[in-house]
Amino acid sequence: SVQGALERLATVADRDELAAIREAALGPQSPLAVLSRSIRNLDPEERPVLGRVVAEARASLTSAIEAAEARLDAAELLERAERERSDPSVGLLVEPLEGPGARHLVARARMALEDVFWRLGFEVASGPEVEDEWFNFEALNVPEHHPARAAQDSFYLDVDASPPLLLRTHTSPAQIRLMQRGTLPIYAVVPGRVYRRDTPDARHTPAFHQIEALVVDEGITFSHLKGTIEAFTTAYFGPGIHSRLRPAYFPFTEPSAEFEVTCTICGGAGCRTCSGTGWIELGGAGMVHARVLEAGGLDPGRVSGFAFGFGIDRLVQMRYGLADMRVLPENDLRLLVRTRGEV
Ligand code: PHE
Repeated sequence: SVQGALERLATVADRDELAAIREAALGPQSPLAVLSRSIRNLDPEERPVLGRVVAEARASLTSAIEAAEARLDAAELLERAERERSDPSVGLLVEPLEGPGARHLVARARMALEDVFWRLGFEVASGPEVEDEWFNFEALNVPEHHPARAAQDSFYLDVDASPPLLLRTHTSPAQIRLMQRGTLPIYAVVPGRVYRRDTPDARHTPAFHQIEALVVDEGITFSHLKGTIEAFTTAYFGPGIHSRLRPAYFPFTEPSAEFEVTCTICGGAGCRTCSGTGWIELGGAGMVHARVLEAGGLDPGRVSGFAFGFGIDRLVQMRYGLADMRVLPENDLRLLVRTRGEV
């Protein structure tokens, strides 16, 4: 009956059942269809009466079917939303990676260096990349008109601040911060990113990495500096690699030195830069200047110290024989994958 079909349509819960009800109520074999076909056999004056009854029944069944369809649609949508909410990967197409990930060459070199210094008894510390002029220059005895302070060499962030703010141009301001902690002795290394307004080329990128070493204790001499550099050189590069110091000038050390390592480390094509002397320059070093100790709140009459610093990217460039340093910040997967697993 029409009434029975309407009642079933009000509670129907799946599409197959709905299709069956529709077939039974409105299909060619349904009572309504049979009734509709019989109209033509009636007397002409009776036809409109039955016709209207059939049309009304068909209309109410059709709208009940549409309502049931809408209800099923809504229920399905809700169910899908529920399913997808509990599975965040639905809809994401993820390309599988080829093999395990790899740390960046510079990160690996930094960690290897930290490890070497850690085993020599140094702590690993850090300092801010945004420094002010006092920490980056003034406290390090870099005078006002020193060429290193020229705006074209540094990235200034706020020239109106006092002191002005800039991105640190070296890790040496960390020396002052270590001394200001007020605890002695200091045996520390500070790796980190530094910034200079260099035009990028095969040997320069505007952002690069340095590692700073600082020792302050009673009775620290230049021999300790030389011994520490030699110990780190052999520990990092291997027993056949040695270091030597050459006179140099830095405002924050006195005396100052450049340190070089035997250039066999660059191997193959990467050795070109040091052919001739057999040595390649790695970084700067020296005994901490008395004015720098004072700026750090220490008494140069009681303690002494040494410091050295060098570029990690340059080290990586030598070690892997990279012709162009600019590949390092580019994060080219082919390079990262090629050197995966090496220290
Ligand atoms: N800060 C110097 C530079 O960036 C390196 C250095 C560190 C020199 C410590 C002496 C002592 O070139």
